[in-house]
Amino acid sequence: MHIGCPKEIKPQEFRVGLTPNAAREAIAHGHKVTVETQGGIGAGFSDEDYIEAGAAIAGTAAEIFAAADMIVKVKEPQAVERKMLREGQLLFTYLHLAPDPEQTKDLLASGCTAIAYETVTDANGGLPLLAPMSEVAGRLAPQVGSWTLQKANGGRGVLMGGVPGVGPAKVVVIGGGVVGTHAARVAAGMGADVTVLDRSLPRMRYLDDVFSRDFKTMYASAGNTIEMVREADMVIGAVLIPGAAAPKLISRAQLSEMKPGAAIVDVAIDQGGCFETSKATTHQDPIYDVDGIMHYCVANMPGAVARTSTIALGNATMPFMLALADKGWRQACEDDAHLLNGLNVHAGQLTYFAVGKALGIDVLSPQLALKA
Ligand SMILES: NC(=O)c1ccc[n+]([C@@H]2O[C@H](COP(=O)([O-])OP(=O)(O)OC[C@H]3O[C@@H](n4cnc5c(N)ncnc54)[C@H](O)[C@@H]3O)[C@@H](O)[C@H]2O)c1
Repeated sequence: MHIGCPKEIKPQEFRVGLTPNAAREAIAHGHKVTVETQGGIGAGFSDEDYIEAGAAIAGTAAEIFAAADMIVKVKEPQAVERKMLREGQLLFTYLHLAPDPEQTKDLLASGCTAIAYETVTDANGGLPLLAPMSEVAGRLAPQVGSWTLQKANGGRGVLMGGVPGVGPAKVVVIGGGVVGTHAARVAAGMGADVTVLDRSLPRMRYLDDVFSRDFKTMYASAGNTIEMVREADMVIGAVLIPGAAAPKLISRAQLSEMKPGAAIVDVAIDQGGCFETSKATTHQDPIYDVDGIMHYCVANMPGAVARTSTIALGNATMPFMLALADKGWRQACEDDAHLLNGLNVHAGQLTYFAVGKALGIDVLSPQLALKA
C-alpha cells in the first residue's frame, strides 16, 4: 500500500501523523511511505530522518493526496484537504464528526473511507487512540498549574513541594480517570499534597490500591467537592461523562470561597469545562483571571509538547495503521471489531451511529459497510 502523510495545516498543530519509526515499520512490511516536506519539523523530525527510514519526501500535500492509498494524519482534514480526498481512498486520523456537519458533508461527498482515531475501542472498554493524549494532558496539568501559581502570573505564589518547614501546595483533582490519575501522580511527584475526587467507587478502589502512598481519594459529592476546592491552591478539572458536555461542578459564586490566587487547570475544557467560569484559551494566551482565581483552559494541551505527543500517538496508532496497510481496511476491520468501531464514513455513507444521531443523517451499519 502507498501510505501518505501530509503536513498538518490546522493552526497551532505541530504534531505529525507518522513518526520516522512508524514509517520504517510500514516500509519493512513492504509498503511505500511518502511524507510531505517539513511535515515532521514541528515535532522535531527532519526530512532526513524520514529519508533515513526509507520514506520518500513530496513537495506538496496535493502530490500525497493524489498518489496515496491511505492518508495518515493527526487532526481532521481541513476544507482544502477534504477537496483532495477521493473515492476509495482510506483516511486514518482524528475526525470528531458529531459537532462538525461541514466536514461530515465533505467526507461523504469525497467517497473516501474514513476511520476515526477517537472511536477505535479496546477490550477494556477504553479508547486506545485517545488515551495517549489524556496521559499527556494529565501529566502536563500540574506543570502548567505550578507555573500559573507563580506570582508573576497572578497566582498565589505557592511552591508545589514547599520547602523544609513550609508545607506543600494542596492540589485537588476532580475526576480520577486517565487525565486525573496522571495529573495526580505528577503533582504528588512534585511534592504536593494531592486528593483525587471521583464518583466511581471501583475507580477509587483501584486508585487507592495502587497509589495510596502518593495521593488520597475522596467521593465527589457536591459537599466534598466544594470543601476540598475551598482549601486548594490548585484544582485540576478532569471529569468526563462519555458523549456529554462536562458537568459544571463549581459555580461562579463558589469561586469567591477559594483562596485568592488559586489556580484552576480545566483539562475538561474540550468538553465545555467543569467550572462555570471556564472558557477555552490558546497556548499563546493560556491564562485569565476571574475574581482573583487564575484559570488555565487550553483545549489542545498536548500541542504544547508536540514531540512527546506525536511519539505517544504514533505508538498507539502504529499497530492499527499496519493492519490497515497489510490487510486493507475491509479485512483489517473484519478481523478486529475494535478497529471496525473506528469506521465513521464509507463510500458516501455515514457508518457511526452516534454521529448520525447528532447530525440527523441516516447511518449504514459498519457490518453492512464491510460487505458493501
Ligand atoms: N484539554 C486537553 O487538551 C485535553 C486532552 C486530553 C483529554 N482532555 C479531556 O479531559 C477529560 C478527561 O478525560 P479522561 O481521558 O481522563 O476521561 P476518563 O473517562 O478516563 O475519566 C473521567 C473520570 O471522570 C469521572 N467523573 C465523571 N463525572 C464525575 C463527577 N461529577 N465528579 C467527579 N468525577 C467524575 C469518571 O468516573 C472518570 O473516572 C475529557 O473531557 C477529555 O476530553 C482534554
